[in-house]
Amino acid sequence: MVGSGGREHALAWKIAQSPRLEELHAAPGNPGIAQLGSCHPVLAEDGDGVLALARSLRVDLVVVGPEAPLVAGLADRLRRGGVPVFGPSAAAARIEGSKAFSKEVLDRAGVPTARALPIASPPCVVKSDGLATGKGVFVCLDDDELQAALAEVRTLGTRFLFEELLEGQELSVFAVCDGRRALPLAAARDFKRARDGDAGPNTGGMGAFSPVPESPLLERLVAEIHRPVLAELASRGAPFSGLLYAGLMLTADGPRVLEFNCRFGDPETQAVLPLISSDMLPVIAEAAAGDLGSTPIELSDDTAVTVVVAAKDYPASGDAGSPITGIEEATKLGALVFHAGTAERDHTLVTSGGRILSVTGVGRDLAAARELAYAAVERISFPGARYRRDIGG
Ligand code: AMP
Ligand code: GLY
Repeated sequence: MVGSGGREHALAWKIAQSPRLEELHAAPGNPGIAQLGSCHPVLAEDGDGVLALARSLRVDLVVVGPEAPLVAGLADRLRRGGVPVFGPSAAAARIEGSKAFSKEVLDRAGVPTARALPIASPPCVVKSDGLATGKGVFVCLDDDELQAALAEVRTLGTRFLFEELLEGQELSVFAVCDGRRALPLAAARDFKRARDGDAGPNTGGMGAFSPVPESPLLERLVAEIHRPVLAELASRGAPFSGLLYAGLMLTADGPRVLEFNCRFGDPETQAVLPLISSDMLPVIAEAAAGDLGSTPIELSDDTAVTVVVAAKDYPASGDAGSPITGIEEATKLGALVFHAGTAERDHTLVTSGGRILSVTGVGRDLAAARELAYAAVERISFPGARYRRDIGG
């Protein structure tokens, strides 16, 4: 497992339940993952280090969590080194790495998306072209917001583009892909804004729930969105294998793509994986081998709600070294606590990042899942701990 966030902890937790798993190793992992396998001090961005580690451990499969190493070519490097990997090549990861490339692929594939605007005029959206961990998008309702967005996006130093503002509810749709085929996994709703009532700046995500009752049929969304994009990428010599994540707006005129991501969503994964009742490891291994077979993905009838507990000033800045308490009490209630930005210092668990923990409650319906997630969150504390109170509300 490559990565160190809540998404990687959830993936490790799910994979660790597989009877097919022999050993689990992480680079670099986190204190939560360390309870499930061995963590090695190799950063996800260190391509040489990850390849050397994978070879020395003779691993059968590498699962890459975050986007930055994928966009930088980690999967290509591992494959060239003879290591099977779940995750796209750099050429296919451009679907996330470049918004301009993504728009071009969508247009060619005939998949509906927000219209590009030649000039900015509010209401509109300003997007930085490169990776920005969810922080490079500015929704501008009036001219003041537009001027502020332009000033900010210029400091990022990347190209930027403008598009029409779409209105509706958002939906994240995950599919496991093997280059040609796409297997629907689940749909989730992500809460991107920092504060209650969708106020404050965009973040990597402050919470999520799954499934989403008003979602159109998953099979249909994947047929109309993921598969045409897979075919277009394959025809460009960049077949996509790994997890293809479509971020959609459910508008009055139907679903429109806001973005594609080349990996599992964080924190959506922490809500989606606890609902999968079947073994995920064979599906991931088959996708990595370019041959998704007939292994089905089975989902329970439950609902999951994930609440992110973040540092006081996230997304502007994170926190480091503050002791964290209450995880055991939260877990005793029946919630799942995934480590996202934690570290261990002198046998004490401390903060180390912006999003510190993701807490998932699973229940028979949204209300039950939400109640459990929040009861668990209330047990957890560290100086400045902050979370949204309206996830799944
Ligand atoms: P992206 O990184 O492109 O998904 O953008 C991050 C967030 O910005 C999305 O999840 C939406 O909340 C918002 N967003 C992006 N594009 C648009 C758009 N065209 N209209 C409305 N909101 C948008
Ligand atoms: N939660 C949004 C993302 O993973 O991009």
